[in-house]
Amino acid sequence: MCVSPRGVVGRRRWRWSTLPKVRLAGPESLLEVHAINRICFDEHWSLKALQDTLSAGAELRLCSGDKAFAYLLTQDVLDETHILQIAVRPEFRGHGMASVLMRSLLEAKCEQRRMLLEVRASNVPARRLYEKLGFAQIGLRPRYYAARSGRAAEDAVVLALEMEAVDLHALS
Ligand SMILES: CC(C)(COP(=O)(O)OP(=O)(O)OC[C@H]1O[C@@H](n2cnc3c(N)ncnc32)[C@H](O)[C@@H]1OP(=O)(O)O)[C@@H](O)C(=O)NCCC(=O)NCCS
Repeated sequence: MCVSPRGVVGRRRWRWSTLPKVRLAGPESLLEVHAINRICFDEHWSLKALQDTLSAGAELRLCSGDKAFAYLLTQDVLDETHILQIAVRPEFRGHGMASVLMRSLLEAKCEQRRMLLEVRASNVPARRLYEKLGFAQIGLRPRYYAARSGRAAEDAVVLALEMEAVDLHALS
């Protein structure tokens, strides 16, 4: 495994003494991605939806040791990169994993004009993550997420990050 925990720093119980490696992955990793997806989202994607998305040109970034513990799925549309999904296994959250994935994406996509995504209005961890990276709200899609399993319909907040404003050195 390429990572190991240590110490107590701020909100985090520990940090990585070696930064976890991010790699681009292909369809062979989708079973593991699907398993993470099912744990992390109420409205999870089917394996076929993940396969179709990858076949349509999406990129999959994966953090893994003995098994995969976090992934980031994105799709380039001309000069914009759409963030489709980011997810970290619950037991690995709060240790900078999503930040490492996002930083890897921002480095790879520095030629793009901007990043775009939609996030549930109530998803505080995700909204804080994006805010920390410099994303700003550019829109709201009312009741975008359908009512389900006793949950009311929910708005999606549309966020964007202009790549020319990104200072990779400032991202920790
Ligand atoms: C959102 C998610 C990807 C964050 O992953 P993570 O690896 O725990 O995030 P990081 O440790 O890199 O945290 C980065 C920043 O996000 C914010 N954040 C992360 N978890 C948070 C929490 N529980 N509460 C508040 N802010 C939080 C903080 O600003 C944090 O920076 P800090 O540590 O300096 O305070 C993870 O919670 C997740 O997988 N959630 C379920 C799937 C999901 O909602 N995906 C997003 C869909 S748009």
